[in-house]
Amino acid sequence: MSAPAESGQHTAGLDVTVVDHPLTRAWLGVLRDETTPNPAFRNALARLATMLVYEAFADAPEEPVAVTTPVGTAPCTRLVSPPLFVPVLRAGLGMLDAALSAVPDAGIGFIGVARDEQTALPVEYLASLPQDLSGRSVCVLDPMLATGGSLLHALDLIMARGATDVTAVCVVGAPEGVAALRDWGKPLKLVIGAVDECLNEAKFIVPGLGDAGDRQFGPR
Ligand code: PRP
Repeated sequence: MSAPAESGQHTAGLDVTVVDHPLTRAWLGVLRDETTPNPAFRNALARLATMLVYEAFADAPEEPVAVTTPVGTAPCTRLVSPPLFVPVLRAGLGMLDAALSAVPDAGIGFIGVARDEQTALPVEYLASLPQDLSGRSVCVLDPMLATGGSLLHALDLIMARGATDVTAVCVVGAPEGVAALRDWGKPLKLVIGAVDECLNEAKFIVPGLGDAGDRQFGPR
């Protein structure tokens, strides 16, 4: 289902997985299409997020559990500990229900960050997280990785609370954003649907899909 990103993106700090599958490509095409209306965009984002989250948990620690079926006992497994999902508002909200459908007993935190339109720098307006994240698996949800500023802001907040097992799930990114995560240097797993060509002068991903927040919820 997945393929490693192009050579050079695997470093000691950053582990990149580009999820490349006929169904992820098809849903990504719906998201990219400028004629996709908001309700269909939200649906496509949720469908794609489910697949990306599955991949994000491919190596999640499991423990054995014996399950009684109607005709016997089956050796099954379950996750050792529930993760914490952290959508980066607003756009990451569109991935949260899908993530919770896959891992219903996960916890939830919220980080609100809006890019300043002039500087493209992140401006935080909400941080609602457990104070102690040591030993906790954290999965950050944000469809867009442009400059990487918003995600890095979120990651710094999360790691300042002691988290060391952190995964970021994104739909589409720019090479500049991936490079920013690599230069950051801390351990991070990035699961992403596609890495596009570049950023334009306005720091939008090209070809990208536009503004995932606006396309779900309308302009701010
Ligand atoms: C978008 C997107 C990311 C961020 C990516 O959010 O959802 O959070 O920009 O850009 P960056 O990598 O350069 O930081 P935006 O600021 O538009 O807010 P919104 O989700 O509320 O629309």
